[in-house]
Amino acid sequence: MRILGIETSCDETAAAVVEDGKTILSSVVASQLDTHGRYGGVVPELASREHLRAIVPVVRTALQEARRGFEDLDAVAVTEGPGLVGSLLVGITYATSICLVHGLPLIGVNHVEGHIHAVVLESEGKVELPALALVVSGGHTHLFEIREDFSYRLLGKTRDDAAGEAYDKVAKLLGFGYPGGPVIDRLAPHGDPHAIKFTLAHMKGNTLDFSFSGLKTAVLRWVEQHGLAEEIAARRTLKDASLEDWLRLTPQPTLDLLASFQHTVIEELLRRVAVSIDEIDARSLIISGGVASNAGLRAAARNAGLTCPVYFPTPALSTDNAAMIAAAAFPKFHAAAFEGFDLRAKANLALA
Ligand code: KG4
Ligand code: ZN
Repeated sequence: MRILGIETSCDETAAAVVEDGKTILSSVVASQLDTHGRYGGVVPELASREHLRAIVPVVRTALQEARRGFEDLDAVAVTEGPGLVGSLLVGITYATSICLVHGLPLIGVNHVEGHIHAVVLESEGKVELPALALVVSGGHTHLFEIREDFSYRLLGKTRDDAAGEAYDKVAKLLGFGYPGGPVIDRLAPHGDPHAIKFTLAHMKGNTLDFSFSGLKTAVLRWVEQHGLAEEIAARRTLKDASLEDWLRLTPQPTLDLLASFQHTVIEELLRRVAVSIDEIDARSLIISGGVASNAGLRAAARNAGLTCPVYFPTPALSTDNAAMIAAAAFPKFHAAAFEGFDLRAKANLALA
C-alpha cells in the first residue's frame, strides 16, 4: 500500500512516497528560503509561483527515488489547509490531476495533522492511543486529544500569541533577528532561569488555554527599565552570527532574561500538558511543530515525571515535508475517506 504525499501549504514544495504507513520510500523537499530570505518573511505571491515551478520536478524526483511509478500508487494525499491559499492550490490542483489521469483516490490532509503524524510515523508503532498532542509552532499552540480512531478533540489553544511567535517577538525586540527560537534556545543555557520571576498566565474559562502576550509585555517592560539600547543596536549589526558572536555581545543580565523567558514558556506548556494527560488518560504524549526542537523543552518534558512516554519528531521530519502528509492519509485510506475532485484550499482549516 503506497501513498504519494504532496505538501505546498507555505514555502516548501514537498513530495514523498510512504509504504504501509510506516516506511518512507522517498521524501523530497524544495525550500524557497533563498527566495523569501531577503524580504524577511514569506511573500505569498512569490511562494505560489515557486510552487508552480517546483511541483512537477519534485513529484518526479520523489517517484524516482522511491523507484516507483504512478501505477504503483494506491492513493494521492495532499495538504488542503491551513496555509496560503495560492500555495495550497498548486498542490491540490496537481494532486487532483494525477488522480484523474491515473484513476487514483484523492485524500485531503490537514497540515497540523501531518505534523502529528510525523511523530507517529517515526515511533515505529510505539505511540499508543488515546494520546495527547501539543502542537507548538509559529502559528499554533494547541492541545489535542487523539482518540483511538485518529479523530481529534481540541482541549486548549492560545488566546493570543503562539509560543513560537513569542520567541520571535522577544528575539526581535532584543536584536537577535528572525527566527528567534533557535537563538534563544542556544543562549538560554548560559543564563539563570530563576533570575526573573515572571507571572504565569491564569486563564478564566478553559484553564487549558494558553496566553503569551502578558509574558511578552513583561519582557518589554524589563528591557525598558534596564536600558539595553546599546547592546541591542550592537547585536542588530551581526549577520550569520555564531554562538560565540552572540555571547560576546550579550551581557549576563540579558542571558538571565532569555533563560527566565524560556523557563516560563516551558512551564506554561508543561503544566497544561500534565493536567491534560490526567484528564484524557493519555497513554502517550506527542510534541511537534517548530518549537518542539527546543532543547530546553525536550529535556523538561522528559524530566517532568509525566505518567506517559513523550515522543518528538527528528529534525528531518520536524520541518514541513510530505512524508507526514502521506502518513496522515493512511487511517483515512482505511476508512475510505476520499475527496471529490472539487477539493478546495482552506486557509484557516481547523483540526478540531
Ligand atoms: O513549525 P514551524 O517550522 O513553522 C510554522 O510556524 O508553521 O515553526 C516555526 C517557529 C518559529 O516561531 C521559530 O522561532 C520556532 O518555531 N522555533 C523554535 C525553535 N526552532 C524553531 N522555538 C524555540 N526553540 C527552538 N529551537
Ligand atoms: Zn508546518
